[in-house]
Order: sequence, then C-alpha cells, then structure tokens
Amino acid sequence: MLLSILLVAGLASAYPQQNGGSGSFGGFGGSGGNPGGNGGNNGGDGGHGGNGGNGGLPWSHPGPGDVRSPCPALNTLANHGLLPHSGKGITTEDILSAFAIGQNFAADTVQGAAVAALALCSNETGTTCTTWDLDMLDKPHAIEHDNSLSREDYNFGKDNNTVFSPEIWGQVLRIWRGSPIIDFKLANAALRERVAVANATDVPGWYVPAVGASLHETAFYLSLFGDPVEGNARQDWIDVWFQEERMPFELGWTATQRSTITEASLDAMVATLQAVA
Ligand code: HEM
Repeated sequence: MLLSILLVAGLASAYPQQNGGSGSFGGFGGSGGNPGGNGGNNGGDGGHGGNGGNGGLPWSHPGPGDVRSPCPALNTLANHGLLPHSGKGITTEDILSAFAIGQNFAADTVQGAAVAALALCSNETGTTCTTWDLDMLDKPHAIEHDNSLSREDYNFGKDNNTVFSPEIWGQVLRIWRGSPIIDFKLANAALRERVAVANATDVPGWYVPAVGASLHETAFYLSLFGDPVEGNARQDWIDVWFQEERMPFELGWTATQRSTITEASLDAMVATLQAVA
C-alpha cells in the first residue's frame, strides 16, 4: 500500500494514471488487427561498441554485471554513458542531467519518475535510498506495467520484462506497415494492438490495463523522434532506439533538432492522442 501511494504520488507528472488508469482511451479493446508487411527498418547497425556516427557519445552494450531496466530511455542513456554504464547508483541529479543533455528534456518531465524510482528502491530495500539501480524497476505493476510496446509483460518465474522482445515489437511494426512517419493514429493503433494481445495472452488473471501510462510513453517517443506538438516521428529513429537502445545519430538524429520537451507539451500530446483515438 505504501509503495502504491508513493509511486502514484511520484508518478503524478511523469506517468499519470499509472496502474490501470484507462484514461479516456476507452475505445481500446478491439483487436486492431492489421496484418501486413512488417516494415522492419533497422537503420543499419550503428557502430556497436564503437564511436562511429554516434554524435560524439560513445555507446556500448551492457557488460558483465551491468544492469538494465524495462525503460528504453534509461537503458539508452546508460549504454551511452550519460547514466552510469553499470546501471547502478543512479541519483536524481544523474537523471536530470542525462535527459537534459542526451535528449533535450526539461527537468519537469522526469522529476516525478525519478522520485518514484527512489521510493521503489526504499520500499524494496527497507532503507532510505539516495540512489537506485535500473533493475529495481522490473518489479511488476509498480512503475513497470503491462501492454508494453517492446517487451513481454511480467510472467511468473521468467525474467522477461526488461529485455527487448522482437516478437512483441513485431506486433507494433506489423501495425505500422513500414510507414516512414508515425502519426498519432498509427501510434494509437500500435498501443491498441498491444492492449488487445496482452489482454488475450497474459497469464489468466494477471493483465492490468495501463493505457494512461502507455499514452504518456507514446508521447515521449513521438516527441523525442518527431515534434513535441505535431508528433510525426521517424519510424527508423524509433526503431533503432527501441531495438538497440542507442540514439540514432548515424541516421541524422540530434537532441536539439526540435524544441525542448516539457511536461506541458507531453500532457498536451496525451490529450491529442486521446482525442484522435
Ligand atoms: C526517471 C525517469 C524514468 C523512469 C524511472 C522510467 C521508468 C520506466 C519504466 C519502469 C518503464 C516500463 C513500463 C513498461 O512496463 O512497459 C518505462 C517504459 C518506457 N519509458 Fe521510461 N522512465 C523514465 C523516463 C523516461 C523518459 C524521459 C522517456 C522518454 C523518451 C521514457 C520513455 C519510455 C517509453 C517509450 C517506455 C515504453 C516502453 C515499452 O512500452 O516497451 N521514459 N519507463
């Protein structure tokens, strides 16, 4: 109970309507089935472990003992060394500066989630945490939630909710049918599909809809790889980021090609996503 209260309070700005909030996206529930070409677009291999085409930021896979989270944004920043590459000992200051420098996000977009991560750590360890580790975020139905776009939902006994799943992501790509630009309708359709599939395939009795949180995450990636007002994100950039957890510098992405993303811009985009659902 304490955890829920802390998390809901901490997530009020960054992940509103966490844990089951359906938002006004109540139209979800149909299959949204849209089979077709997969439109996969990996955008090249992007210099794994090297410095080529990386906008000056080194990138490397997590090494032995390094930990990662269910969040592609956090994992990407750790892979680029803007958060500790180990994924351990993260402070709120680390989060604020990594998202400002690496992705041109205003502090108010991540402050609530950073507080929630500290609260989760304190709850898990029974101490007052001042830092936390990325793998602490894998606790199901805390900040982590069901109907993710790029990883499996928690499944008892399987450590599956932090790693990228080609199968789950393939469900999204099938909906997008190779469209080079992802607009609000395509983003909504992908989320609708994930809600339907998770609802149908999760362990019976497990699935909790998380449309509110997912809409906020949708606004995150549309803003990051498109425009903070218009959306219209490049699919090849989105795809590299989800699949490889690195910034798509070699495909021309930079953190400052668009204006700074703020909590107000994200909230407005969530409202637009709900309106066009
Ligand atoms: C301290 C800051 C943050 C924390 C603690 C955090 C935590 C999380 C967690 C626990 C998830 C897993 C949800 C799930 O089960 O699918 C998640 C997903 C996600 N996060 Fe973050 N996050 C943070 C900041 C951000 C930011 C700034 C972005 C912006 C790009 C972002 C983008 C995403 C996206 C797009 C997903 C959905 C992944 C999917 O559905 O497969 N996160 N985040």
